[in-house]
Amino acid sequence: MPLSLKHDCMLSAEVNISSRVVTTRTLMDMKQRGEKISMLTAYDYSFASILDKAGVDVILVGDSAANVMAGHVTTLPITLDQMIYHAASVQRAVKRSLVVCDLPFGSYQGNSREALNSSIRIMKETGCSAVKIEGGQEIIESVTRILSAGIPVMGHLGLTPQSINKFGTYAVRAQEKTEADKLVEDAIKLEEAGCFGVVLEKIPAALGIKVARQLKIPVIGIGAGGGVDGQVLVVHDMLGINKQFSPRFLRRYLNLFDEISGAVSAYVADVKSHDFPLHLTFYLILNYETKLPLVIARGTRDRRL
Ligand code: KIV
Repeated sequence: MPLSLKHDCMLSAEVNISSRVVTTRTLMDMKQRGEKISMLTAYDYSFASILDKAGVDVILVGDSAANVMAGHVTTLPITLDQMIYHAASVQRAVKRSLVVCDLPFGSYQGNSREALNSSIRIMKETGCSAVKIEGGQEIIESVTRILSAGIPVMGHLGLTPQSINKFGTYAVRAQEKTEADKLVEDAIKLEEAGCFGVVLEKIPAALGIKVARQLKIPVIGIGAGGGVDGQVLVVHDMLGINKQFSPRFLRRYLNLFDEISGAVSAYVADVKSHDFPLHLTFYLILNYETKLPLVIARGTRDRRL
């Protein structure tokens, strides 16, 4: 049965979302029939539940959790244990979306056995459906080994934030021909190795189109233009929880930082002014001797029961 969802945002749109569970096969079918794939990050049960019910196709438990959940400047500090905690929380909430968990920095670069062991831990301890891994040629052996255990793998090329210390900047990648050519080659290698999809981050739109046309597997972009097969955003950015980060590619659908600040300020004011909680909401207790409800007058701090 299709769910009909109406989005009240800047661009109101009516979309029909199938309630069928999303698999890697579903994503491939979507690419083949030209249906765009929606992907967002989530790191906890409550957000994942909202995203799943709202019809997001893929939920990424991104290592961006290091930034938006833990306040680190880069994604490097987050550990495999911490990723597993986030991914298990997300997966518990999800009924329809495909949940993909990032392999964090330091959990796969050592060798392909380490990559396999980390992926097995993710699958066993979280219940997620797939892992995502940053890199091209240099991680192909690991990708092959993870896939040989029956674990679906998504690639990630372009701006790969785990390599920020090598890049030295979060600027747009692959603007030079050599880097663009290498990116195309890497994408093909990931597809040939058996990846079910590839994320392209912060690259020229024309290159995004080129890769999406060349590959049979879905190509999901973040700052890679509109010619790819789907889009991914960090949920805190698109909801406006995080106000400091405003790259050109970001569309903010809410201004939750201000909304939440307003609500919290109102709560603080209500508590201070004795307006919260209201007497009507009190749990009543009977006077032990008279058995009558004990009424506490406003401003009364203590009454002997
Ligand atoms: O960690 C993350 O959120 C990501 C997306 C930006 C694709 O990898």
